[in-house]
Amino acid sequence: MKPLPRAAAAHVLVIDDDLDLLRLLSMRLHARGFRVSTATSAEEGLARIAVEPPQLVVSDIRLPGLDGLALFDEIRATRPTLPVILLTAHGTIPDAVQATSRGVFGYLTKPFDSKRLLEKIEQALQLSPLGGNGHEDGTGEAWREDIVFRSSRMAELLEEARVVAASDASVLIRGESGTGKEVLARAIHRASRRARAPFVAINCGAIPEPLLESELFGHVRGAFTGAAKAHAGLFQSADGGTLFLDEIGDMPPALQVKLLRVLQERAVRPVGATRAEPVDVRVLSATHRDLEAAMTEGQFREDLYYRLDVVTLTLPRLDERREDIPLLANSFVQQLAKKYGKPIAGIAPEALEALAVAAWPGNVRQLYNVVEQSCALATTPLIPLTLIQRALRVPALEAMTYAEAKQRFERNYLVQILKLTDGNVADAARLADRNRTEFYRLLQKYELTPAMFRSAPGSSGLAER
Ligand SMILES: Nc1ncnc2c1ncn2[C@@H]1O[C@H](COP(=O)(O)OP(=O)(O)OP(=O)(O)O)[C@@H](O)[C@H]1O
Ligand SMILES: [Mg+2]
Repeated sequence: MKPLPRAAAAHVLVIDDDLDLLRLLSMRLHARGFRVSTATSAEEGLARIAVEPPQLVVSDIRLPGLDGLALFDEIRATRPTLPVILLTAHGTIPDAVQATSRGVFGYLTKPFDSKRLLEKIEQALQLSPLGGNGHEDGTGEAWREDIVFRSSRMAELLEEARVVAASDASVLIRGESGTGKEVLARAIHRASRRARAPFVAINCGAIPEPLLESELFGHVRGAFTGAAKAHAGLFQSADGGTLFLDEIGDMPPALQVKLLRVLQERAVRPVGATRAEPVDVRVLSATHRDLEAAMTEGQFREDLYYRLDVVTLTLPRLDERREDIPLLANSFVQQLAKKYGKPIAGIAPEALEALAVAAWPGNVRQLYNVVEQSCALATTPLIPLTLIQRALRVPALEAMTYAEAKQRFERNYLVQILKLTDGNVADAARLADRNRTEFYRLLQKYELTPAMFRSAPGSSGLAER
């Protein structure tokens, strides 16, 4: 596997409360071509990481407030792929040793030789495929250009995706319907060393069982009635590349066994063939189902599950990353304006707000559909709130004054009650608990006459009930 190219100027965050040491380290690292930022406490360091994640953190263990170990735990929790190197003074060496077993990349004992530090940094960066965080250099980000996001949830997920992409591990992508499982699968393929080889996707739930086997593994000529020609399966088509098994939870049990064998033996036997052919395929799979439940019910094989689920990536629901909504919506508008050839520039601010707070059971796909419907109907450069509400099926609350709303209510109420009483004012007034004079005054106000409601034969039929 060839190492992914690293960004020219890797960004290193150095945290130490010793200002002299901080200055010295900055100078040395800077001289070696690193981009350096500094912090004098773990808290400040965490803030810097949140604002602009570096490729590497070098931190003293002893710090005021949170110490270096607590800092490391915090980083592990949110950015498991960000390497950390700890600096220890004499008394904290045992802590540092213990920390390496928890995943700290390494430690150096003060006073240390800056050559050793630089070596450690180089090693850590070589192992870490994070060749830049995409904000400052623009290199190496093409793999995820189809994925629009700004939430830290997605940023973290994509960081992990990039790391696993560099390996050949099987990845199970989970997430509710419409959260972007397939876009993520394609992105992982593009970020992997297999990027130039094919990406082949199949929806295991959409193909009838008898066809699925031959679709996946191929068949030889005469394998079954109608098999006039040999047919290469998707595993063979994806050779050297990635096979995406979508809706893996829908795979019939008989085929689960066969799939497991292919994954174990790295070889495929086409239907009707006597020998298996070797294939080199990386498998990504996805499901919106609860595979654990399917396993308990005996619907899904446990051994296959562990083969497929070497690494799990779970896409958050759209309502768990609402900060992505405006960005996604605007990006869809741009795509759709092109598609429909309409000069739509964007979405009105109040309409964007409505999108940002809406319920999204269908996740990103539903957002796309809402924007598409609004674009199709738009007649103005900015998509207005009313169109968005219509697409969201939100009852439009028109901007009315209180007086207007009250009038509308009164008119409707009077009409209802007169319909009920066939235009009998005495009965209507009694139902409304108003005296007749008052009731007549109300009718006058709305230009309603009792005659409109009388269901005499041959009348206008207004009194239908
Ligand atoms: N982060 C994103 N940025 C841009 N487009 C996205 C993003 N996530 C999803 N989409 C778009 O939303 C739609 C649904 O995405 P995708 O098909 O990947 O979802 P899924 O999780 O596979 O859904 P399902 O479970 O229904 O198969 C696609 O049109 C996809 O391009
Ligand atoms: Mg899908």
